[in-house]
Amino acid sequence: MKLKLDQMTPRQIVQELDKYIIGQDKAKKAVAIALRNRTRRQKLAEDLREEIYPKNIIMIGSTGVGKTEIARRLSKLAGAPFIKVEATKYTEVGYVGRDVESMVRDLMAAGVAMVKAELQESLAEEARLRTEEILLDLLLPGTPSAETREKFREKLLAGEFDDKKVEIQVSGKSGGPAIEVMSGSNLEELDMNLSGALGNIFGQRKKKRTVSIKQAREVLFAEELDKLVDMEQVVDLARDRVQNMGIIFIDEIDKIASRSTEGRGGADVSREGVQRDILPIVEGSKVTTKWGAVDTSHVLFIAAGAFHMSKPSDLIPELQGRFPIRVELEDLTREDFQRILTQPKNSLLLQYKELLSTEGVDVQFTDEGVARLAEIAFEVNSRTENIGARRLHTVLELLLEELSFTAPEIPGQTVVITAPYVEERLGTIVHDEDLARFIL
Ligand SMILES: Nc1ncnc2c1ncn2[C@@H]1O[C@H](COP(=O)(O)OP(=O)(O)OP(=O)(O)O)[C@@H](O)[C@H]1O
Ligand SMILES: [Mg+2]
Repeated sequence: MKLKLDQMTPRQIVQELDKYIIGQDKAKKAVAIALRNRTRRQKLAEDLREEIYPKNIIMIGSTGVGKTEIARRLSKLAGAPFIKVEATKYTEVGYVGRDVESMVRDLMAAGVAMVKAELQESLAEEARLRTEEILLDLLLPGTPSAETREKFREKLLAGEFDDKKVEIQVSGKSGGPAIEVMSGSNLEELDMNLSGALGNIFGQRKKKRTVSIKQAREVLFAEELDKLVDMEQVVDLARDRVQNMGIIFIDEIDKIASRSTEGRGGADVSREGVQRDILPIVEGSKVTTKWGAVDTSHVLFIAAGAFHMSKPSDLIPELQGRFPIRVELEDLTREDFQRILTQPKNSLLLQYKELLSTEGVDVQFTDEGVARLAEIAFEVNSRTENIGARRLHTVLELLLEELSFTAPEIPGQTVVITAPYVEERLGTIVHDEDLARFIL
């Protein structure tokens, strides 16, 4: 079984990240330690526990070196509610009231969904049994003998009634188009207050429908599962988990750091405004959600940015202080590129190989071919613009364009991508800087 995040040691967390991200050991370690510290904190006496605040992290590194990728992989580790937001989202013109608190509401929503799914899994068998009884009631109206009922049960389980039609009551979905139209920006709060009331008016209406036993089973199972799950318990557990294990990843934080102190334009003011809005959340405050107040004091914040145009010291001092841990991600080398192509689980090369295998074409990459590809990506990066590992995508796409196009016409063939093959397709482009700039 998959380990839960709160049981994983720093080494295990790093090992998990290693499966997908090449290098960047410092960043992986920092993240792993921060996560473990929260588990440690949980084990302390309450008075001390309240004193220990998370050590938030800023990841600094050029574009395309794995910052967001680390976050993406963290989110897959089980058991910790996680969301990723882009800091720039809050500077957008028209974004109602720069609603930074929405990040906490979203985190809580993630926590509720996570806990609900876990509880549902543990209750699935119970719900299945209940569904079975209801289906038997539908198939055998009146009061049949116990014997008959058991016979029907056997047949039901064997799927013999699957196509038989029955009539069931289904509850109409609450909400409806009228509410959809309004939602979108900052109407979540409105929704928070209204959903309960509207739910009562529209939600409980039951409709009769004739369906097959097979469909009935699905509908009834979902309904029974819903009834079994105690939402109050879900919310309590979720709040607890969000407050103590929640992670908010704030991407592109460098974009809200303003550089100059003099002659600032509107954009700078707006950026600084966002920092000021974010500050209380990072410092710890209670945010109202539709599941009640959520305290952010012990939520872990991980921020990331390229910081090409600005530095972490361009952030407002209070915010800097709340992100005491800085880790730098390294620029990727030619060797890194070579490894990124081949080593990660579901690596790029594997993806292309699998895609083309659906056409019956077997693509193989020789070591020399891969090495040449990595070299080309690296060269183009250093001669035009360094976009990190993203360059691998553009290079590969161009390399395999022709093959991708013709693959359906050559099923059964094996295509070996050798160094000369790579050279033939990409050589001229790489050596012409202008061409490279436009095509790769
Ligand atoms: N170290 C790495 N190991 C494996 N894959 C990587 C690595 N770095 C980048 N990639 C791949 O390159 C792509 C871009 O990486 P990512 O989104 O993490 O960039 P980033 O550091 O967040 O850049 P930006 O500052 O532009 O947001 C992703 O598809 C990712 O899988
Ligand atoms: Mg990114």
